Amino acid sequence: MSIPKEKIDEVRERANIVQVISEYLPLTKRGQNHLGLCPFHSEKTPSFTVSETKGIYYCFGCNATGNVITFLMKRDGMSFPDAVRSLAKRYGITIPEVQRSGPDPRDLIYQALRASMEYFLRELKGPGGDEAREYIKRRGFEGEIAQRFNLGYAPDLWDGLSGFLRKKGIADASALSSGVVIKKEKGFYDRFRGRVIFPITDVRGRIVGFGGRSINGKDPKYLNSPESQVFKKGETLYGFYQAKQQMASAGAIFVEGYFDLLALHKHGFTNAVATMGTALTKEHLRLVKAYTNTVYALFDSDAAGRNASIRALDIAIDEEMDLRAVTLKGGKDPDEFLVKFGAEAMKEAIAKAEPLMEFFLKDLCGRLDLKTPAGKRKYLDSVVPMLSRIRNVAERGHYAAYVATVLNIPQESVYEALKIPRGTAEKSGRGTTDAVDPKGARLSELTVLKVMARHPELFSESVSVALESFSDPVLKKAGSIIAGSISQAKPLDAASLMDEADDEPTRTLIAGLLIKDDDGFIEDPARMLEDSLKRVMNKGNIKETTRRMIERLEEMGRTEVASDIRKRMSTGAKRRS
Ligand code: UTP
Ligand code: MN
Repeated sequence: MSIPKEKIDEVRERANIVQVISEYLPLTKRGQNHLGLCPFHSEKTPSFTVSETKGIYYCFGCNATGNVITFLMKRDGMSFPDAVRSLAKRYGITIPEVQRSGPDPRDLIYQALRASMEYFLRELKGPGGDEAREYIKRRGFEGEIAQRFNLGYAPDLWDGLSGFLRKKGIADASALSSGVVIKKEKGFYDRFRGRVIFPITDVRGRIVGFGGRSINGKDPKYLNSPESQVFKKGETLYGFYQAKQQMASAGAIFVEGYFDLLALHKHGFTNAVATMGTALTKEHLRLVKAYTNTVYALFDSDAAGRNASIRALDIAIDEEMDLRAVTLKGGKDPDEFLVKFGAEAMKEAIAKAEPLMEFFLKDLCGRLDLKTPAGKRKYLDSVVPMLSRIRNVAERGHYAAYVATVLNIPQESVYEALKIPRGTAEKSGRGTTDAVDPKGARLSELTVLKVMARHPELFSESVSVALESFSDPVLKKAGSIIAGSISQAKPLDAASLMDEADDEPTRTLIAGLLIKDDDGFIEDPARMLEDSLKRVMNKGNIKETTRRMIERLEEMGRTEVASDIRKRMSTGAKRRS
């Protein structure tokens, strides 16, 4: 399955990014770049910039960025290898196919699933489907919405589908691995019986499984396909294929149930997806992250819903997504809410959604006695692990101020608490030292990277040591990727550096550094670099790190570098005049 690296490089070099993107949106030449309306967020003035020479795109509005391969991945929901293959085909590059013995077993599963959907659709339309059609109508989803989501029906039979599949020439083994039939001593029987069927698709619209709602009162109320080679519940969102385009401009709405999702789409909220009753996972968030950073979570207002939302917050912090909690009055699920109060009320509830962190901080206030020292301690103990993982200094400061106010303690005390990593903060493995250093550390580090991007010739071992002591994890990662390329004497190629960064923030940063250099002229880059390096080396706890590093360098006999760094440190961060 894997494609040789040279082939990927060849595809990236040969594919013309302007040509490819032009097929999706009109681009106009503006100076060295091409400009258009960003396909990843809604805007009226074009800020989506494509650089033909650098082979990357960058949106100054929403920071979306990537190369020709990631563009196709985001825009068409392709996997990396699929995007590479489709470009290769287009530009006449042959990619050696790895020898497989026989066809991909997953293709057979997809076939079985497609055939099963045919059966479910036919049964819903047929004479035996009266009861199911009646049920769907009673719930308000007949007609266009049923068609859009291919609702079907599994009659209450033991061998309806298994017989159908056999006639279609689907092997028993494929039917079995697709999960639609179950094996017993003699032969097979249908998994779904007496149920309205919801076909579940992947990002490309392929059927990967089914959900079934019992209509005759038999338990369980809902039955889902088991996990299979093509279906992982924690990585699949029901309705994603139908919702993904709309998400780019409207954010994503998360609900739990199948009918909740249909209700939202029916009322015009076509950016909704459903988790199918499982807890939210980071894979769920990553799916939507390709389209939007904003997630509105419609959790139930009961205790289970509240716990689910706090778990979700836990994941969202690390994914750096803006997760908001929507509270629906009346304790109703989204479907019932819409039936009772209508689309306008839903719109209002969504508009009033508050950041989940705020929801969490407030909710906790109501559950502890904050007048007592013990209550304050518990409050702080619960919020510190969450707050210390927020990477953005401004955002973290905002919530730290809130905590100080509700506890009626000085803000410094909150920062003091954030200094001591504990609980999940420690487990997450992310340094919290930058939590207490909001003043300028990031700026100096950023300047080092800016100069490096524009003047790779100034890169030296001292710079490389300084990079090691960066406190901002994203800047550090971007720095090490750029440094890696420079030290291999490769020209700084934005498009290929982009594939080395495996997360969105790092990619965005690299793109920003490399594409914005068109207008960024630095008068005295050597001096600017030197000044910033000094500041980086002299930062509070980093100073300690640097000292240890100097010792290591000396041990290794790299006395020259060590003394160079030592010199920078003792001179301090004062500007030369
Ligand atoms: P709910 O029990 O809240 O049901 O389950 P609902 O969606 O409101 O269903 P209706 O309105 O009574 O028809 C929420 C979701 O949890 C999953 C399903 O995805 C369901 O839509 N679920 C629920 C299961 O997977 N199995 C179950 O037995 C129940
Ligand atoms: Mn319901």
